[in-house]
Amino acid sequence: MKDLIKETAKYLVSARHVVALTGAGISVESGIPPFRGEGGLWEKYDPMEFAHINSFMNNPEKVWKIFMGDMKKVLLAATPNDGHLGLARLEALGILKTVITQNVDGLHQLAGNTDVIEFHGNFAWLRCLKCDQRFKTVDIDLSEAPPKCPCGGIFRPECVFFGEMIPPTALTRSQEESSQCDVMLVVGTSALVQPAAYMPVIAHQSGATIVEINPDPTPLTRQISKIFLQGKAGEMMNEILSEVSRLIESKKH
Ligand code: APR
Repeated sequence: MKDLIKETAKYLVSARHVVALTGAGISVESGIPPFRGEGGLWEKYDPMEFAHINSFMNNPEKVWKIFMGDMKKVLLAATPNDGHLGLARLEALGILKTVITQNVDGLHQLAGNTDVIEFHGNFAWLRCLKCDQRFKTVDIDLSEAPPKCPCGGIFRPECVFFGEMIPPTALTRSQEESSQCDVMLVVGTSALVQPAAYMPVIAHQSGATIVEINPDPTPLTRQISKIFLQGKAGEMMNEILSEVSRLIESKKH
């Protein structure tokens, strides 16, 4: 593993344009459950019943009750962990340009990354289904399910439900970044949901080196990822950052 970390650090330090694609796995060490695999939310709830736009519109109270329960941590934005902080450090070092995230928890922005593409929207904002006004989630009383707008309408979170389009600007920008990067870090995603999982394929087809960080292999691992760092995001990012810092230091002398 040490050699793979060294190889990753070399790619990062000499890269022209680095992009990261992240999934729920990078927030697991912040206490936010993933969707699939061990402790995954979709092991408890059927995503088509609770995360599809049709199920939300048919019964917003039922879906909001889930958000207030298991996903409350997502709503209240837990704190960034070493995985998020490592990506923010790579931006501060001028190495990482953009994070494309499938997560809606806002932790990359909290960690300090300034160019974050929210591929599946976010929970930071709520929009009224009746008057279309937007409110910050933190400013709304969430004790009532579904939370109501002052106009009496029902709020929806600005996250992307199954059955909805990816926000066009997020999709276009992600495709551009993926086709222009020469290194892509893929951190904490099962790579099962399209079109997000296609971004590493676009990057790979454009000649980029794909480095995947995940405790488990994914459909990308054998065919797309050049380096597979099998482990947790926080631990791997800490090792990568210490090797990157060592390389930068050695270049100075
Ligand atoms: N560090 C890194 N990766 C981890 C960690 C960790 N500590 N713990 C778990 N993982 C990995 C799992 O092995 C899995 O591959 O993170 C991945 C989580 O996969 P999912 O739960 O499927 O999350 P994600 O890939 O983001 O799902 C994509 O599906 O339900 C939709 O909209 C939802 O954005 C989500 C999309």
